[in-house]
Amino acid sequence: MGIRKKGKFITFEGIEGSGKSTQIKLLKNFIEKKLKKKVFLTREPGGTSISEKIRKLIINDLKDNHNPYAELYLIFAARALHFDVIKEKIDKGYFVLCDRYIDSTIAYQHYNGSIDLNFIKIMQSKIHSNKLPNITFLLDINPQISKQRLLKRGKKLDRFDKLSLKKMTLVRNGFLKIAKINKKRVVIVKNDINKEVAHDLIVKNLLKKI
Ligand code: TYD
Repeated sequence: MGIRKKGKFITFEGIEGSGKSTQIKLLKNFIEKKLKKKVFLTREPGGTSISEKIRKLIINDLKDNHNPYAELYLIFAARALHFDVIKEKIDKGYFVLCDRYIDSTIAYQHYNGSIDLNFIKIMQSKIHSNKLPNITFLLDINPQISKQRLLKRGKKLDRFDKLSLKKMTLVRNGFLKIAKINKKRVVIVKNDINKEVAHDLIVKNLLKKI
């Protein structure tokens, strides 16, 4: 499909406070300045005007004790709309950098939730069946460091930011399992210490894969 030939679909994953936004900005700069390619930045849940409204429902209005399928279906409703935009951008030759995608659904709704993994995969396959994203950077940090970073930010914490250390560890281990199963696509980037070192690793792996 043209979608793989034209642009690239690059996703960033990791627990809260893992430094995704900083690394996305650094990579955007690199791609624009050094590779001279157009970059489209986006995020999930979100990325279209309706999907951003759904994001607010998921993050601010839903409660942890609501039926988990309500959360799952909202995530996929947002994604179905969003993927049309992603596809359009890739077809136009953009490098699409997306903050969270399918691996977040598997880590949060399956490994730290109650949703069957195959059910998630079936839902995802209805949105697109080809092997996307092209590459995924998993920013890995110790959940204790993540908690410290979130508190330092001083911004109001949402229900995901407030996950206990135990639950954050379940999400983190979920991401690591996904990386192990998808070695070709997912690159683990240790991001506890130095953001420049993490950025260099991301660039090196991107150049290797494109
Ligand atoms: P996040 O992207 O971390 O935004 P911010 O940096 O503004 O806090 O927050 C989105 C939350 O949505 C994140 O905590 C995890 C959750 N999420 C899921 O549970 N499942 C999903 O499939 C996606 C995409 C996100």
